[in-house]
Amino acid sequence: MSSSEGAQCGHGQQQQEADNARIQDQLSRISHKLLVMSGKGGVGKSSVAAYLALGLAKLGRKVGLLDVDLHGPSIPRMLGLEGIFSFTPEKRMIPHAYNERLHVISIDCLLQDRDSAVIWRGPIKHGVIKQFISDVEWGNLDFLVIDSPPGTGDEPLSVAQTIPDAKAIVVTTPQEIALADVRKSINFCKQVNLPILGIVENMSGFICPHCNTETPLLGKGGGLRTAKQMDIHFLGSLPFDPRMVEASDLGKPLLENPDSSPLLNALERFTAEVLDRCGTSGAFLKMFSGGGCPK
Ligand SMILES: Nc1ncnc2c1ncn2[C@@H]1O[C@H](COP(=O)(O)OP(=O)(O)OP(=O)(O)O)[C@@H](O)[C@H]1O
Ligand SMILES: [Mg+2]
Repeated sequence: MSSSEGAQCGHGQQQQEADNARIQDQLSRISHKLLVMSGKGGVGKSSVAAYLALGLAKLGRKVGLLDVDLHGPSIPRMLGLEGIFSFTPEKRMIPHAYNERLHVISIDCLLQDRDSAVIWRGPIKHGVIKQFISDVEWGNLDFLVIDSPPGTGDEPLSVAQTIPDAKAIVVTTPQEIALADVRKSINFCKQVNLPILGIVENMSGFICPHCNTETPLLGKGGGLRTAKQMDIHFLGSLPFDPRMVEASDLGKPLLENPDSSPLLNALERFTAEVLDRCGTSGAFLKMFSGGGCPK
């Protein structure tokens, strides 16, 4: 090896150490890191991540929502966030403020044209995900909710490697074809030592707004059954509500609509369950009894 190569290696190592120190510093200011994942596409990972983040923020928590679905980011559209990020003079990314307590980062907000495709291999994706933690002005957060693409590929692996104290929320729908992939996700978590906070079953049935009858569109109870079989905590079921599809397409989340509905009630219970599992439900209950729940 030439001396110049040696110097480069030393520099590379120093740079890596500095990057890791920045990541550790950032992570030390975030109390809970939750990775929303599933082996299956289209089961509602992004919806669950977005509504969990919204729910936590509504309960007064300071929340970061990090979209690591680099090829199919949907969080900004779901939340109606327009435009690209701004940067500090030190070139650190300033996340989009959905509101005072919910700040969002997604690759979508770095693209000039939102329809352009991101064509990256694993190492580049790993670098980008690390930068989304180290080079973003997250500040002090109670929760960092992370939305991942389907499967057990680069993105959830990068999160598991970069955030050692992250916990997974595994999303499924009730039918066996989804559960088969979800079991792979659970085994992935076990293999990479990513603790699982619990399983949530989405689209677990359609409740008719007129007669209240529940139609199990995709089968029934598969999430709970799998949770029991695999000895994982069950975080609850979220019914199918066609208004969620429209709300996401319009970028106007349902929580902004004061009408109550089985889905909104289930989302509230799910958020409470997550807080409980994170050991912060005491503060949650106080918030309700004290009547001090802001926006
Ligand atoms: N409980 C629900 N009721 C009705 N529609 C839902 C529900 N959950 C999610 N959806 C809708 O299903 C579609 C897929 O949801 P979403 O994008 O959250 O899934 P995903 O798992 O993140 O998908 P991908 O694997 O592509 O990232 C969206 O149109 C969303 O609005
Ligand atoms: Mg998604």
